[in-house]
Amino acid sequence: MEIQVSTQAWHEAEADWLVVGVSESPDLSGGFAALDAALGGTINRLVETGDLTGKLAESLSILDVPGISAARLLVVGLGKNDELNGERLGKAMMSAVRKVAAKKDRSVAIALPESLPDGISAGDAAAVAARAVVVGPVGQDSLKAEPGHHPLAAAMVLASTEGEAEAKVGVEKGIIIGEAMNLTRNLVDLPPEMIYPESFAERASEAAAAAGLACTVLGQAELEAEKMGSMLAVSQGSDSERGPRMVMVEYKGGADDGPTLAIVGKGVTFDSGGLSLKPSESMITMKCDMAGAATALGATIAIARLGLPVNVTGYMGLVENMVSGRSYKLGDILTARNGVTIEVQNTDAEGRLVLADVLSYVADNGADRIIDLATLTGACVVALGEEVTGVFSNNQDWADAVLGAAKTAGEDAWQLPMFDHYSELLKSDVADCRNIGGRWGGAITAAKFLEKFVAEKPWVHLDIAGPSFASSNKGHREGGSTACMVRTLIEAAASLG
Ligand code: BES
Ligand code: MN
Ligand code: ZN
Repeated sequence: MEIQVSTQAWHEAEADWLVVGVSESPDLSGGFAALDAALGGTINRLVETGDLTGKLAESLSILDVPGISAARLLVVGLGKNDELNGERLGKAMMSAVRKVAAKKDRSVAIALPESLPDGISAGDAAAVAARAVVVGPVGQDSLKAEPGHHPLAAAMVLASTEGEAEAKVGVEKGIIIGEAMNLTRNLVDLPPEMIYPESFAERASEAAAAAGLACTVLGQAELEAEKMGSMLAVSQGSDSERGPRMVMVEYKGGADDGPTLAIVGKGVTFDSGGLSLKPSESMITMKCDMAGAATALGATIAIARLGLPVNVTGYMGLVENMVSGRSYKLGDILTARNGVTIEVQNTDAEGRLVLADVLSYVADNGADRIIDLATLTGACVVALGEEVTGVFSNNQDWADAVLGAAKTAGEDAWQLPMFDHYSELLKSDVADCRNIGGRWGGAITAAKFLEKFVAEKPWVHLDIAGPSFASSNKGHREGGSTACMVRTLIEAAASLG
């Protein structure tokens, strides 16, 4: 995707749509004054009559505007001046772009707000706008005859002369982040008959190659050689054409002997629950159960394309969780890669079984810090709601770094406790542990289970069961995959550089 940066006056920008942001108490000087003069005072009048409120992401379309070079004007609300931040600007920009992209072949010129609060630079604002231009036109409905959104014909960001250089850098950054989010979104949104372990691995290899990164794929035989008995058990009920894969994508942007960040993702390409079968209602969205893996992939590729000075390896543990005569059973005792034996008491608690072996592999293969992402538990959604990521860790410094990264990225994340006594709930009479904890504290007992496999490396687990997949379309974002945590991971990697 290409996005021009121009310093021309707003009213001179040629496009199907000119997008300008206005706050609730607008300062109609500068670019606004010139635009309003060209429009014969329209914006001022609309503010005075109360038709233009400036409320966040509320917009007013003025079609067929004489006096300016653009054919149409979209004035989008930025909300209250003192509340404006990157996240709110993102909402406004996304709403605007999604409006523009509702019709085919439209071009857009986006005027960057002239007065930005402390903490948002011209470059940041340009990155937010560019990200919206890339993400906004892509929907979850790519297989519909008439998708609701269409690729833009062209896009331009209007910056001030002083801010031009910074805006250019920001635009390139925003494009990379937006494209990574779309990679993640696309993998999650496509149906499970299209995205299964092998096809996910193929797409990951292609994306890695395009970014110049090494990609390694382990199949059934290699996973057996690694003794990944926990992950393999989950995959056992699948047809052989739907066998397991572990994908590794490696980026070396730091010193040769520098530390490595491992980003690990749960990649259950469809979770039927196995023999502990899910009710149909709960199964409908279970194509999203590989969102952790798709996020690990998108983030690793973005970190590489941004050239961050860190070493990062993305790991994706890919299986289906299916029902057949070969399915793993309740009462089975699995031996994980690190030798821990696990009594299966619920085949729907499969994500932790996949991650157990991948995490143990990661801990043994040179990771210095670990972040895993998983649509792991409904309990986390009960605890935190649909829009907040659960954070769990064995190392408070590392947890603080990741929480700080989430704050910078404007993504909501909240830490839950990891007291020792939760481990008691995982005790089994016949094995070292069982794969469920019981009725209460399910998000935490799942995290305590994972902790057994990280060999005490600094580790943060992100439970994205709630925020990774949205049930409905909204003005500022498409339903389906949200690509949540891609930006947090980028910020976390940046904080290590
Ligand atoms: N993939 C699900 C968790 C999930 C639920 C993701 C809702 C997205 C939305 C996971 O594999 C699962 O089934 N977890 C069980 C664990 C239980 C059996 C201990 C759950 O949350 O019910
Ligand atoms: Mn499950
Ligand atoms: Zn699952």
